[in-house]
Amino acid sequence: MRVKVFQSAGQLSEFAAERFIEIGARAVSEKGAFSVALAGGSTPKDLYSLLASEKYREKISRESVFFYFGDERNVPPDDAESNYRMAKENLFDLLEIPVRNIFRWKTELKDEKSTAADYAKTLEETFDLSGGAFPRFDLILLGMGADGHTASLFPFTAALAENEKTAVANWAEKINAWRFTLTFPVINNASNVFFLVTGEDKAETLKEVLEGGRDPQRLPAQGVKPSNGELLWLVDRAAARLLETAKP
Ligand code: 6PG
Repeated sequence: MRVKVFQSAGQLSEFAAERFIEIGARAVSEKGAFSVALAGGSTPKDLYSLLASEKYREKISRESVFFYFGDERNVPPDDAESNYRMAKENLFDLLEIPVRNIFRWKTELKDEKSTAADYAKTLEETFDLSGGAFPRFDLILLGMGADGHTASLFPFTAALAENEKTAVANWAEKINAWRFTLTFPVINNASNVFFLVTGEDKAETLKEVLEGGRDPQRLPAQGVKPSNGELLWLVDRAAARLLETAKP
């Protein structure tokens, strides 16, 4: 695991964009495809807009990149809270990514379990999995909440213990809502996992997660430990303010 501290969120996004392009180019040259699971929330918005900007847009092979979502809220795809909508507005529409290259959680299905089962089926089919194998993403982007959650793996929730399914519905008591999330076996099977964490409000939790005792039930972000992949924490100065080990 490496922690890189940036002077600003802007510099963090620039670095993340460069690595995104690099990982994507290698995946496309080696396999003809680049699979990435996007993070939701607000932090990655700048990165997505940057990837769609003049500086990077031509470096992304639209036909060969396949976008998935690490998690999704239990809202329609056009809802202001939708992670899919955020990515559509800041990345997909601007880059003109073909719809066939985007795999969103179908939150419009009849119930939460159907949405999760449908996504698991999508992963099985698009990664051509067999016998309970887990998809191996080239890159998974994650954020971290001030409570230590990541994706929609919230503290003390059932999904933390899921070690067979790839995609589940997870009841989050704290927010009194169903959420949809990839599970740890999928996240920890990725070739590259980047956390993007910025802002003063994350400083306390980031210190606990990176330098405190191991308690992944209370701090699910600690459960991210790729078994055969690179884990990179990209954090800005404000979020890193209390860290002993990593300085800008
Ligand atoms: C979501 C995310 C979630 C997010 C963190 C951090 O659906 O909200 O996937 O895990 O990454 O809550 O969110 P911010 O980037 O908004 O601080």
